[in-house]
Amino acid sequence: MNSKPLPDFLSQALLSAPDQRVTFAEFMERVLYDPTFGYYNRDSAPMGKTGDYLTSPHLSPDFGELVAVQLVQMWQALAQPALFTVVEMGAGQGVLAADILRFCQAEYPDFYQALSYVIIERSERLRGTQKNQLRNWAEIDRAIWRDWGEIPLESVVGCFLSNELVDALPVHRVCWQQGELQEIYVRLNESQNQLTEELGPLSTPGLGAYFEYLGLNLTTPPYPDGYRTEVNLAALDWLTTVAQRLAQGFVLTIDYGYPAATYYHPNRSDGTLQAYYQHRHHNNPYIHLGQQDLTAHVDFTTLERWGEQQGLRSLILTHQAPWLMSLGLAERLRQNNQTSRDINHALRRRAALQQLINPLGLGGLRVLLQGKGDKTLQPLKMLALASETNLLQS
Ligand SMILES: C[S@@+](CC[C@H](N)C(=O)[O-])C[C@H]1O[C@@H](n2cnc3c(N)ncnc32)[C@H](O)[C@@H]1O
Repeated sequence: MNSKPLPDFLSQALLSAPDQRVTFAEFMERVLYDPTFGYYNRDSAPMGKTGDYLTSPHLSPDFGELVAVQLVQMWQALAQPALFTVVEMGAGQGVLAADILRFCQAEYPDFYQALSYVIIERSERLRGTQKNQLRNWAEIDRAIWRDWGEIPLESVVGCFLSNELVDALPVHRVCWQQGELQEIYVRLNESQNQLTEELGPLSTPGLGAYFEYLGLNLTTPPYPDGYRTEVNLAALDWLTTVAQRLAQGFVLTIDYGYPAATYYHPNRSDGTLQAYYQHRHHNNPYIHLGQQDLTAHVDFTTLERWGEQQGLRSLILTHQAPWLMSLGLAERLRQNNQTSRDINHALRRRAALQQLINPLGLGGLRVLLQGKGDKTLQPLKMLALASETNLLQS
């Protein structure tokens, strides 16, 4: 599957594993997050124009500014607490954080006074990039970096925010084969210095339990023999950790994904795993090791159900396009067309705004808003537009 010599960091891990093979989730963990050679710790920027893929914050500051509008609404819904903490998880190059902080400082001074911006970032290298990007706010401790262990239980009044974090968590891959649900493992074939896939028993009962939880039986027709899909058990642990730390407020999750009925539809027989390399995507995770991004779509039904079990009420599930429209994107488009003096800037900005709501691109991202505490019901009214134009059915 890979013609180049296997990088040492990976061959060592595979050779020292029991049975000399690892689950796909362990493989993904290594190639993305190895502290030295993993994709998210390498020297060059993962996302942005010079990276491998574009995320919304890299397209235009308008995205961060509209998220800021949403955060201000949340603060108001919570009766303007003196301390409102935003915990951004997986902040990439810190662009979203910078746009939010800059905009709030300029446009919402009262909210800015109450705002504490906390970042949880797994990649040491990206943490460095973020500290540089946010140095003005880091110097005055307005932006701070924390590990989960440093955030006490039930301590946060505010919002846990993530953009394209959950689809970057390592996933297990499973396959329905010969009457059984099996797991996909990755083995090093030493003689050929190649990675090969093989099937084996499920590495954890959590995988079978996941489908039971959803009421899905992949082992009966119409699921075809050879049907493959992914399970993001790490997302459940992540949501539990978040819910435990939220005292009152919101969890705002923006990511690519589907409701479970679409995700695990029998016709989607090869799952959603994608590799991104130099702005092109393909489905071979075993090349460009540590040099390409791997992602799997998010099962939003499970995030909602699991969240409810952890005390997070599901408030809104919609797409990025109607959500950004409800926060004022259309008005920005109109103003840009009418007031901009620099025609090139106006054209570029218009294109970026349109890309943010393109249903076939970033506009198709899903936005899940969950809440804890009575006061979090109010944003339901504020986001009426988003729910009215809810595209959940697709
Ligand atoms: C796809 S990137 C998205 C970056 C950024 N949010 C954006 O929109 O440009 C995923 C980010 O999540 C970080 N990450 C992955 N797993 C994480 C974890 N368990 N905790 C914190 N950050 C994590 C990665 O290092 C990276 O910064």
